[in-house]
Amino acid sequence: MKKPVPLNQAKWIIEPGCVVLVAAGTAEHANLMTFSWQTPIHTADPCLVLLVINRVRYTYELIRQNHELTINVPGESLLKQTHLAGTVTGRGIDKFAHCDLTPTPARIVQPPLVAECAGHLECRIVETHGVQSHDLLICEVVGASAESEFFDGAWIPEKFHTLHYMHGTKYGLLTRRVEV
Ligand SMILES: Cc1cc2nc3c(=O)[nH]c(=O)nc-3n(C[C@H](O)[C@H](O)[C@H](O)COP(=O)(O)O)c2cc1C
Repeated sequence: MKKPVPLNQAKWIIEPGCVVLVAAGTAEHANLMTFSWQTPIHTADPCLVLLVINRVRYTYELIRQNHELTINVPGESLLKQTHLAGTVTGRGIDKFAHCDLTPTPARIVQPPLVAECAGHLECRIVETHGVQSHDLLICEVVGASAESEFFDGAWIPEKFHTLHYMHGTKYGLLTRRVEV
């Protein structure tokens, strides 16, 4: 039997794609935060990704300084660090060090990559739209890389488990590929 779900809980039914760590800033001063509200919106050239960010985030202050960011894909082994990066602010602390994560230079943009993650997108913001307390950031992907052992054009879930946010402290794992 299906029961009605209160509308303020409706989004958990379709909570989208894998959780990512977004890094912003420069080599001298960087920060990172956890995101679950992300989706590709154009897969051709240029590839565009949408991020939904609350305007109060400290990371957003850094994004606004150079309009660049990196999107990094953590796996199951980074579950604790990923949750921590999404529950403390980097205002006044070195969040990379706090989360035991390593910033490493990106190829094209100023913000660093998160070395421990298995996949990376380097992005420039091309459009911003406001919706209530959040901004929708349209990001053009200008660089991309992924660990070839885990990614052959798609993630290989038998070898690398992306994290999928469910609610509160609950995450799901993608563990198996099926073919139509
Ligand atoms: C799993 C998870 C997903 C999150 N997704 C988003 C998101 O999509 N957008 C957002 O603005 N905040 C999101 N957050 C909250 C930020 O990551 C959190 O407020 C973070 O501490 C902000 O860091 P900062 O103050 O250093 O920028 C999420 C948190 C968690 C734990």
